[in-house]
Amino acid sequence: MSPASLSVISDAVTVRVPAKVNLHLGVGPLRDDGYHDLVTVYQALSLYDDVTVARAAGLSVEMTRDSGRGADVAEVPLDDDNLAVRAVRALGEYAGRDPKVAIEIVKRIPVAGGMAGGSADAAGALVALAALWKLDIPRADLLDIAAGLGSDVPFSVQGGTALGTGRGEQLMPMLARGELHWVLAFARDGLSTPSVFRELDRLRADRDLTPDPDELRPDALVQALAAGDPHVIAPLLHNDLQPAALSLQPGLRRTLRAGIDAGALGGIVSGSGPTCMFLCADADAAVAVAAELSGAGVARSVRTASGPVSGATRQVPSA
Ligand code: C5P
Repeated sequence: MSPASLSVISDAVTVRVPAKVNLHLGVGPLRDDGYHDLVTVYQALSLYDDVTVARAAGLSVEMTRDSGRGADVAEVPLDDDNLAVRAVRALGEYAGRDPKVAIEIVKRIPVAGGMAGGSADAAGALVALAALWKLDIPRADLLDIAAGLGSDVPFSVQGGTALGTGRGEQLMPMLARGELHWVLAFARDGLSTPSVFRELDRLRADRDLTPDPDELRPDALVQALAAGDPHVIAPLLHNDLQPAALSLQPGLRRTLRAGIDAGALGGIVSGSGPTCMFLCADADAAVAVAAELSGAGVARSVRTASGPVSGATRQVPSA
């Protein structure tokens, strides 16, 4: 290996981080701290942001959109509100070091799409900086810092398929047999997560509905995932936030219907939306559903993805 490539390896680290979907999202009542207790089943999908952290004179962040896909990066703040910036500051505080690094994000996960795109960038920045600084950080501490940055950030670090409780930050890995094949329909406009939770509270108050804790539990889905048959899993997909997302973007009903008409086994809104996710029988079926859904003109763009995949993973540079 040449000295030049060695210096590249020691001065920059790239981490690849997956998008997430919620196969089940049960939302409890609003808590005093402004959050809701969740019972959720997360799955990490093969749609990734790449986060590179390099030594620099000061702290900066830059974001580029991978050609033709996903995210409108113009909507992402590039100041101290940026979640990756907050992540390197948090790790700097933990390690007692000044985070003088340039962060570069290649974005493919939709912005404000309900797929934890911002959380992925925070998770990538944490894992990349820990590697750059060669920190021997216990996994539990890393996940604690991740949870302080956002409810979905620990799952973006961990990946796979997992049961999330609390705000979504308390994770238990789950057994999921085989590979599931998904079609994702990205919407033209994003939805802000807090506004979707607020809309759910409003809808529940209007209808005098109190969530039943027993209905939050995804027991049947947990069993179906262990067995791995997408035909059994599909009717068990569930999202309590879906009525709120549909109330804010009624056009998503057409998208959901079009996915089923195109041959998907089941489809729901992903997380707080507006991305719609469709489970298909196999990889070929997913390609066919994606093609038909693209033609239906009910989404900004459509793509296939599979899961589960690993969480934030360091990329080994090619020599
Ligand atoms: O944790 P995170 O910063 O991603 O959450 C963003 C917003 O989503 C919160 O401020 C809250 O309004 C809402 N939220 C919630 N209950 C959760 C997670 C998020 O109400 N369990």
